[in-house]
Amino acid sequence: MYSPKKGSILNQRYPKSAEILQRNRQVIPGGVVSVNRATQPELVFVRALGAYMWDADGNRYIDYHAGFGPHFLGHNDPYVTEAVIRGLREDASLYGTGTTVPEGRLAELICEHAPAVESVQLLNTGSEATYQAIRLARAVTGNDHVINMQGGYNGWHNDVSNNLMTPLAQLGPRSTAGEYPYYPISAGVPIDHQRLVHAVNFNDLASVEYVCQQYPVAALITEPILQNIGIVHPEPGYLEGLRALADKYKFLLIFDEVKTGFRHAIGGCSSLYGVRPDLVVYGKAIANGYPIAAIGGKKEFMDRFVDPDPARRVLLAGTYNSHPVPTLAAIATIERLLMNGGEVYRYTEKLGARMQAGLESIAEQLDLEATVARQGSAFCLYFMDHRPKDWHDLAEHHAFAVDDRMRAELIGKGVYPFPLATKQWSISAAHTEDDIDVTLEHASCILSKLEGIPSRRTAAGVTSLRGR
Ligand SMILES: Cc1ncc(COP(=O)(O)O)c(C=O)c1O
Repeated sequence: MYSPKKGSILNQRYPKSAEILQRNRQVIPGGVVSVNRATQPELVFVRALGAYMWDADGNRYIDYHAGFGPHFLGHNDPYVTEAVIRGLREDASLYGTGTTVPEGRLAELICEHAPAVESVQLLNTGSEATYQAIRLARAVTGNDHVINMQGGYNGWHNDVSNNLMTPLAQLGPRSTAGEYPYYPISAGVPIDHQRLVHAVNFNDLASVEYVCQQYPVAALITEPILQNIGIVHPEPGYLEGLRALADKYKFLLIFDEVKTGFRHAIGGCSSLYGVRPDLVVYGKAIANGYPIAAIGGKKEFMDRFVDPDPARRVLLAGTYNSHPVPTLAAIATIERLLMNGGEVYRYTEKLGARMQAGLESIAEQLDLEATVARQGSAFCLYFMDHRPKDWHDLAEHHAFAVDDRMRAELIGKGVYPFPLATKQWSISAAHTEDDIDVTLEHASCILSKLEGIPSRRTAAGVTSLRGR
């Protein structure tokens, strides 16, 4: 069962990291500028290139964290870096007035390749984009209520700061058809606002319908594949079912493709699954590590951002929206993703398949109750006998402590997954087969010695490695 880590370990093994962190803690709360960066061991990274990162003590790591996902091409991809440098030399600056050629070019590229996007607006972060998408949905529908997913993450603002990795003890029994209580992941969300947000299980259409029958719903926002708790795929028909419910109850279906967009396909999950949301948001892999995000969708909805009637117009503004540096980075990233007929996708799929086959074979040889869930370059190894269908399933069945320990030991060997159980592993186009094989060797060695991993041969009989 999931239980959050507490406290901080002063790390003797990484003295230079400890020194820098100690210093930064004097002036930055906790020493980190995003709460999710407070991790164990407390490493300070000073350099990254391609598939690798180096800490302040000179240790090199094969990186599977990818800065929470953006670095699909690897760190400091030369093509992207070159485009940014060229742009700066050619006088790119923030004019802050009127439109620019690069933002038009980026918008054209997104509209051309994302099936659900007829027009697009450019922002700085995924949270800004999900914020705007929900506000736009409220303006369009005239409704206030929002449905989101238990186990999903869509940013830090009031509409989505809830029900992420809620401990099982707090969740209680599975709720279907129904909703979970609002469990804030932030202090400061007004109670009146909490009443507008309804968390349901992923892959549970009955609960969406239940909420729609109780409240006037403006939007349902979900990652098409839940990727903040590893890789939780939609079951066949689920996304289509959401589309049908959106049409029936007249709410806007918002796909949060901040993690899935551009990493899994140039057209994101809307193209992979053939389901068109009303609005879609992108971030992360769109610019390979530079801060830019996008909100797009049907033109009739997007035009609300410029409606001549101030009572209908949705305020979209931002000093740094489509800043030239991340904009040029995004254009270069998309160009790179399109090169040689999408070679990057074929290559990373090959690496992902190699990793999956390797992990499955290790689990089989060691007789571990484990299963791999994967989408292209992104995967997660779960210590349970089937691939999870939602957070509740995970919270009930995954061996969290084993997952945490495996990650911690891998980091000690120079392999860096995000050090928290169930978090996504991300392969990049800069990884090599050798990187995958080295990772597998370490994983095999660690898993063969780790205690407490459930065996496939349980008292109840032999369970399947490959899941249901
Ligand atoms: C699916 C998803 N949506 C939205 C966000 C928020 O994006 P940002 O951190 O850029 O605000 C994240 C961040 O991890 C995310 O994973």
